[in-house]
Amino acid sequence: MDEQIEVVKPAEKAGFENFKQSDGTVTGMASGLFKDVMTSNPYFAAGGGLMVLGSALALTRSSVIRLSQFAYRQMLVDLEIPSKDKSYYWFLEWMSQHKQRSSRHLSVETNYTQRDNGTVSTKFSLVPGPGRHLIKYQGAYMMVNRERSGKLLDMTSGTPFETVTITTLYRDRYMFAKLLEEAKELALESQQGKTVIYTSWGQDWRPFGQPRRKRLVQSVILDEGISEGILKDVRDFLGSGNWYHERGIPYRRGYLLYGPPGSGKTSFIQALAGELDYNICILNLSEANLTDDRLTYLMNHIPQRSILLLEDIDAAFNKREQTKEKGYSSGVTFSGLLNALDGVASAEEMITFMTTNHPEKLDPAIMRPGRVDYKALIDNASEYQVSKMFTKFYGSEDEQSREKFLQAYHEANVGSVSTAQLQGLFVYNKNDPEGAIAMVKSMGK
Ligand SMILES: Nc1ncnc2c1ncn2[C@@H]1O[C@H](COP(=O)(O)OP(=O)(O)OP(=O)(O)O)[C@@H](O)[C@H]1O
Ligand SMILES: [Mg+2]
Repeated sequence: MDEQIEVVKPAEKAGFENFKQSDGTVTGMASGLFKDVMTSNPYFAAGGGLMVLGSALALTRSSVIRLSQFAYRQMLVDLEIPSKDKSYYWFLEWMSQHKQRSSRHLSVETNYTQRDNGTVSTKFSLVPGPGRHLIKYQGAYMMVNRERSGKLLDMTSGTPFETVTITTLYRDRYMFAKLLEEAKELALESQQGKTVIYTSWGQDWRPFGQPRRKRLVQSVILDEGISEGILKDVRDFLGSGNWYHERGIPYRRGYLLYGPPGSGKTSFIQALAGELDYNICILNLSEANLTDDRLTYLMNHIPQRSILLLEDIDAAFNKREQTKEKGYSSGVTFSGLLNALDGVASAEEMITFMTTNHPEKLDPAIMRPGRVDYKALIDNASEYQVSKMFTKFYGSEDEQSREKFLQAYHEANVGSVSTAQLQGLFVYNKNDPEGAIAMVKSMGK
């Protein structure tokens, strides 16, 4: 036993007394060893020096990076526009037209239209391609970086996801809003004064043809006060969103325009949409293969700021056998239509216009408020309309001719004439009021 103790003691003397400290750590020994090695071995000492230098450099480097990142954050601002965002294309289009830019890398976007008669029109826009571009906008320099994500695909369009990042000095950050606003305006200019007509395409709403020039409300001549009445009601409705929301009432309103063919129902709704700066989604209920399900789906997925126009609403009230005799069949049932009208769940406002030539065929259930809140008869031409139509075609100066025409119209006693027929008469006698007068006289015979 004693011998064993003696073996241990010299070891302690040799400097291992630090081996076990009261807290049980080995740092004491390690630092002792380190010191020993560093001071007594020149190679290790040099290596250690290098190591210290290395880590100092690494530290400096990382702090420089951090500092520059900090400065970047302080001095520069980024704006990221993903390709999903509407403003993405606005911005690219804007940039392609922006003069003060330096970009050598362009990509082409082609708008190609083939018309029914076979003619083709194409328009190329050269937009900035992927990569970095430098632009100067109102004195501010901006770095634009268009990046394409190789992996992600936008499933709706099949195109790769992209982002555009615009970087500018912190002090110029206000330029972003200005720039986007300018880009938006530029893009909307091409649609301005136009109404987009959507039709149903399978489960989707698709623009039908090119956006059309807005039709002026004044160009559709309805009987006295009708046009003003509808316009006022729609404007009132659009201005009372809060009122509806506060009371928990679905924010929608239905209008029914009924009357004989060619009295201007469809034309008026298009003009109204133009006046309100809305687009139109047209759905023809007598369309073959329109089913209740599709109707409900379409009505719940209407593009923003659009008026829903349900034409020939009486089609849903016919028995299917009857419509088949006429050569078409609609799959929409009456209850399907009612459900679709009731079930439109939308936070946005919803304006539905319905037209029919046969109001007598409509079931009273459709007239329930919430489905139809406003009805208007758009009838054949009244004398007021005849006079106004005449003025529209031949100007207001020729009062004499107008009187003569009205007289002849009255005497001819042609009964009800639709405004479309009148339009036909005036178009036929373009710039020739006398011809129109002669013609209307012969109509009565
Ligand atoms: N009141 C009107 N004022 C000006 N133009 C009119 C008027 N009524 C009809 N027209 C002209 O007649 C044509 C047909 O009109 P529209 O399609 O609007 O009639 P509609 O009432 O919708 O007929 P339908 O019931 O058959 O659908 C259009 O070219 C339109 O310009
Ligand atoms: Mg119509």
